[in-house]
Amino acid sequence: MSTKVYDCLKAIGEKIIENKDFLTDLDREIGDADHGVNMARGFQSVIEKVSQDDPDIGAALKKTGMTLLSTVGGASGPLYGTAYMEAAKALAGKETLSAEDLKTAFELAIAGIQKRGKAEKGEKTMLDAFIPAYDAYSEKIAGGASLSDALDAACAAASEGVEFTKTIAATKGRASYLGDRSIGHQDPGATSLTMTLEVIRDFLKG
Ligand SMILES: Nc1ncnc2c1ncn2[C@@H]1O[C@H](COP(=O)(O)OP(=O)(O)OP(=O)(O)O)[C@@H](O)[C@H]1O
Ligand SMILES: [Mg+2]
Repeated sequence: MSTKVYDCLKAIGEKIIENKDFLTDLDREIGDADHGVNMARGFQSVIEKVSQDDPDIGAALKKTGMTLLSTVGGASGPLYGTAYMEAAKALAGKETLSAEDLKTAFELAIAGIQKRGKAEKGEKTMLDAFIPAYDAYSEKIAGGASLSDALDAACAAASEGVEFTKTIAATKGRASYLGDRSIGHQDPGATSLTMTLEVIRDFLKG
């Protein structure tokens, strides 16, 4: 297999692990102070399990999803696990990635998160980063932009989405228990999702 997907998954893991305390602190404000800890544990395991011997991109992503499902726990484990496993379906048997493949992978990942978590945009979750990122990416690709430009637009939209989560109350997940007191705080899941997209962008650039 091209080592690129392996290196990319490893880099996503390293970024999450590096930001473990930051993500956990965000979750301390509006949740139960475990998002960074949960995700870092999961990605530590992903780094150990995913290898250059995985036959293709789909297989590596499927393994990532299964590992996150079994190690992360909380709300985000099943949600991120499902996202990677659904994205894997778009990339089964593939050793290279086209802009269109990535669009389908994002689309399936979002649909998986929504099926599992029953959230919509505007509920202060990871979807507030992911859905605008997907929309910006798709619009750029449809307009003939390069993969790199489309991913830049996706990351900018995801960051704006994180800012937007500060302005709204959570209506899904643990943060919803706080109601309006969740306003003013950025969503941890939207933050980790944006970090993920930024690593993917940096990897596929150029
Ligand atoms: N229904 C949902 N749909 C999409 N994302 C969600 C949903 N519920 C929570 N999230 C995301 O999960 C993040 C919290 O993840 P975390 O790892 O802290 O799990 P948790 O909520 O603490 O789980 P638990 O309630 O089991 O302890 C939130 O910031 C939000 O982005
Ligand atoms: Mg939590």
